[in-house]
Amino acid sequence: MEIRKVGVVGCGLMGSGIAQAAATAGFDTVVREVSQELLDKGRSAIDRSLAKFVEKGELSPEQKAQALGRLLPTLQLEDLANCDLVIEAVIENLAQKRELFTELDRIVKPHAVFASNTSSLSITELMTATQRAPRFLGLHFFNPVPLMKLVEVVKTVVTDPEVVQTGLDFARRLGKTPILTTDRAGFIVNRLLVPYLLDAIRALEEGFGTIEDIDQGMKLGCNHPMGPFTLMDFVGVDTTYSIAEILFQEYREKRFAPPPLLKRMVLAGMFGRKSGKGFYDYSDPKNPKVNKLLEGRG
Ligand code: 3HC
Repeated sequence: MEIRKVGVVGCGLMGSGIAQAAATAGFDTVVREVSQELLDKGRSAIDRSLAKFVEKGELSPEQKAQALGRLLPTLQLEDLANCDLVIEAVIENLAQKRELFTELDRIVKPHAVFASNTSSLSITELMTATQRAPRFLGLHFFNPVPLMKLVEVVKTVVTDPEVVQTGLDFARRLGKTPILTTDRAGFIVNRLLVPYLLDAIRALEEGFGTIEDIDQGMKLGCNHPMGPFTLMDFVGVDTTYSIAEILFQEYREKRFAPPPLLKRMVLAGMFGRKSGKGFYDYSDPKNPKVNKLLEGRG
């Protein structure tokens, strides 16, 4: 099935990155937000990110202008009516996503494919909010979307094989590498990544080392681009917590259970980079320092 026009619902961190990738790859892309303020914020994030590619010589100024020209920011879901593929990237809340999909199902042409970028909610549960189960799948992108090469393509027990192929082809058209997985909480990457991140907190609590030393250990000892605490601050401490809760609900295994410190940090508003404080303090964003409040735990 040919995709010509793409709809993205949500222009936050993930939605803006997905819309940027689609527009840069040559798709007419409608991106919808709930307020003008959020839409403007997403649009300027796209503009800044494209500017970085121009700075690095990976895009010409004309290509940047063309990508922006293919982007239609909107506040109206109705503007997605004739999209061939609609990717949802709104807040990770099952009820809100289901409600949105029911509405999209009414608005968007019946043959269009629906995808969710959820990192951990069940694609099958989202799919049942629509009447187009065979044309529904997961397309899980990674943060920062413009740089990260992976897309997890998630099929349910009823996804049409042609739709799975459409998902794989679409990811390739964006210049990404797709991997195929089934609808199990965490898919492939978070199923492996999240227990590792939780274990880093346990290692800290058990006195294996300090936040900085554990981070350096994985950065320099395993060549990870970021240590586990830097990565949790980057992904969001709150997001890590909510993914862990969902994994624990699904598998009921201790390794997925969020450690008490993670929950306390979320309760205290230490969400990581986005709130200015997590495992590190971002008062000076270019020069983060270990969060003093957590020091001495190691
Ligand atoms: N758009 C375009 N260019 C960007 C960019 C963006 N949004 N963000 C950064 N860049 C560019 C910078 O300009 C810089 O270019 P340069 O090398 O020419 O100077 C380059 O990318 C590197 O950026 P920085 O120097 O700022 O930082 P790093 O070297 O640390 O790289 C990183 C940043 C790519 C984020 C790297 O640290 C990394 O790969 N980190 C791990 C990310 C990761 O694991 N993501 C997955 C998270 S899990 C997830 O998303 C799943 C979810 O379900 C939770």
